[in-house]
Amino acid sequence: MTVYEFAKGLILEAGNNVTKIMQQEIEIETKSNPNDLVTNVDKATEKFLFDNIKKTYPNHAVIGEEGHGHDLSETSGVVWVVDPIDGTLNFVHQQENFAISIGIFKDGEPYAGFVYDVINNVLYHCKAGEGAYENERLLPTLIEDILEKSIIGINPNWLTKPKLGPMLQPIVEDSRSARAYGSAALEIVYVATGKLGAYITPRLQPWDFAGGMIILNEVNGRATNMLGEPLSILHPNSVVVANSSLHENLIHNYFDNYKDTLIALHERFK
Ligand code: IPD
Ligand code: CA
Ligand code: CA
Repeated sequence: MTVYEFAKGLILEAGNNVTKIMQQEIEIETKSNPNDLVTNVDKATEKFLFDNIKKTYPNHAVIGEEGHGHDLSETSGVVWVVDPIDGTLNFVHQQENFAISIGIFKDGEPYAGFVYDVINNVLYHCKAGEGAYENERLLPTLIEDILEKSIIGINPNWLTKPKLGPMLQPIVEDSRSARAYGSAALEIVYVATGKLGAYITPRLQPWDFAGGMIILNEVNGRATNMLGEPLSILHPNSVVVANSSLHENLIHNYFDNYKDTLIALHERFK
């Protein structure tokens, strides 16, 4: 069995466990602030993934949101980047619109990506270089489209920030419309399927984007930070995800004018 096949079976099993535990009462705790939530399901799912990966592949490294591998300082060997529940606020408030996300890298290069929309039983997945799938359907290469004809994904909270609002508001104004789904992993795969033209956010952790980014690569989408630089899986990043011509338009016509603000933002991520 390949690592890709093993990971595919594992994420489906993790999703199955989530739907079972959800039937019981969800225990909620706060983390860094009253809106930063974690549940027993986030923790149990990360533990399930970590224990099974380590049992099968003791030499693989795992970076997970809820505590595993945060001290990793380099990407040699096989590294799994895991978000047990992406969209925890949706999970708590809506019991839907969340996903399990896994990105696997070999010596820093994308190897396989998975984003599992548990409630709808849709698995977005790929082995790098072999095309991306929505369940069994091969996803076509992305169609290039202009901002004026695109729906973009962006969390409205960012538009209220004094330094970032003026940079982001013109993008919303120039787009056909904007949406916020509350799960970065799902929003990135919505770009990969063409449901969104772009997804933009000034700050994400590696586990939020790792799985989706690998899937997006397979359909010729682009994912970088707002300075147009590659995304690192070792620290937070700003993230711009889009088809390649829209991506270039966003970087050159919207973000370039805010280079100093963006450089200062990224300094804080290191
Ligand atoms: C969050 C979601 C959300 C994004 C946040 C993430 P979590 O992940 O992806 O859409 O706006 O920045 O932290 O905490 O639900 O795993
Ligand atoms: Ca997340
Ligand atoms: Ca999470």
